[in-house]
Amino acid sequence: MTIETILLSLELESDLEHAAALLKAGKLVAIPTETVYGLAASAHNESAIKAVFAAKKRPSDHPLIVHIGQIEQLSAWVADIPPVAEQLAQQCWPGPLTMIFAKAPGVSSLITGGRDTIAVRMPDNARVRQLLSISGPVVAPSANLHKKISPTCAQQVMDGLNGRIDAVLDGGDCQLGLESTIIDLTRQPVQILRAGPFYPQHLAEIIGQDVLLPSQHNIAVAGNMPAHYQPETKASLFTSNELMEKLSKTEQKISSVVVLHFSELAINQPMQAIKMANQRQQYTSQLYQALAQADRLHCTEIWIEQPPADWHEVIDRLSRACFR
Ligand code: TXA
Ligand code: MG
Repeated sequence: MTIETILLSLELESDLEHAAALLKAGKLVAIPTETVYGLAASAHNESAIKAVFAAKKRPSDHPLIVHIGQIEQLSAWVADIPPVAEQLAQQCWPGPLTMIFAKAPGVSSLITGGRDTIAVRMPDNARVRQLLSISGPVVAPSANLHKKISPTCAQQVMDGLNGRIDAVLDGGDCQLGLESTIIDLTRQPVQILRAGPFYPQHLAEIIGQDVLLPSQHNIAVAGNMPAHYQPETKASLFTSNELMEKLSKTEQKISSVVVLHFSELAINQPMQAIKMANQRQQYTSQLYQALAQADRLHCTEIWIEQPPADWHEVIDRLSRACFR
């Protein structure tokens, strides 16, 4: 079934109120956050939550993050707030950190994918928090179709979900461009489940405890798939040397390839290239838009220069984008 997707502006008071009214009525509204656009639905409305899974074609056991506008809204969703959560909330909220707690008894298992834990975050955009203070907390997975690239602007949301959701609230480009760091506080030591804008060392300093990296534990969560964040075009990762080697082989038919690189490559072939920033945060914020741009060039392959190994959040997304 196709529905009309309307475009609203985050800047306009009447549009913000309209978006809040839609959410309260159980409709689906894509909202801008500092990380990526989220597909919001009232966290209190089970049929709206089901509609989120349907619109995204997301398997029902992939748990959702509850987004709150004020810290006072946290206690309704969680069974217990450990002291480390208070420290993290004080330093990192509002901001790109999702915390996993034991869930409060009445929380719908549709949100948690049947788990006894729940993910919560407070987004760092005052207008969006204003929206949440009117609408109440929302679930908000990234506003993309299952396994596809996450959207960092309203147009990218439209490209994937136009006709499948009720509205897109346009707040311009997302500042960070990559999903929040997810930290599981229900385990000892606490563990990062998804690398993101808050780095483990920083989180460990805040709580004065060790924080395990995703490579140091083997917690599997549905939703954390090896193939994810995928462009339409086949993408592959190469070290800088491998890429130089491939580009120097003139017999390769590389006019149908787009190269995503961050170092200065001497490309003297007639080929398409997207130059990324060579600084970690800047690169991160450009990543999803660059992959979407590469898709629009309609090449047969994307060759990606592998960024430094300690850019964990970038390597995580790129390896999933390239997984076949
Ligand atoms: O930055 C973000 O976090 C964005 C914006 C919109 O806020 N949201 C986002 O949601 O990335 P989503 O649904 O695309 O990714 C959420 C991931 C799930 O795939 C799952 O891996 C994890 O969060 N998750 C959610 N609830 C969990 C739980 N109870 N235990 C472990 N992992 C959970
Ligand atoms: Mg996602």
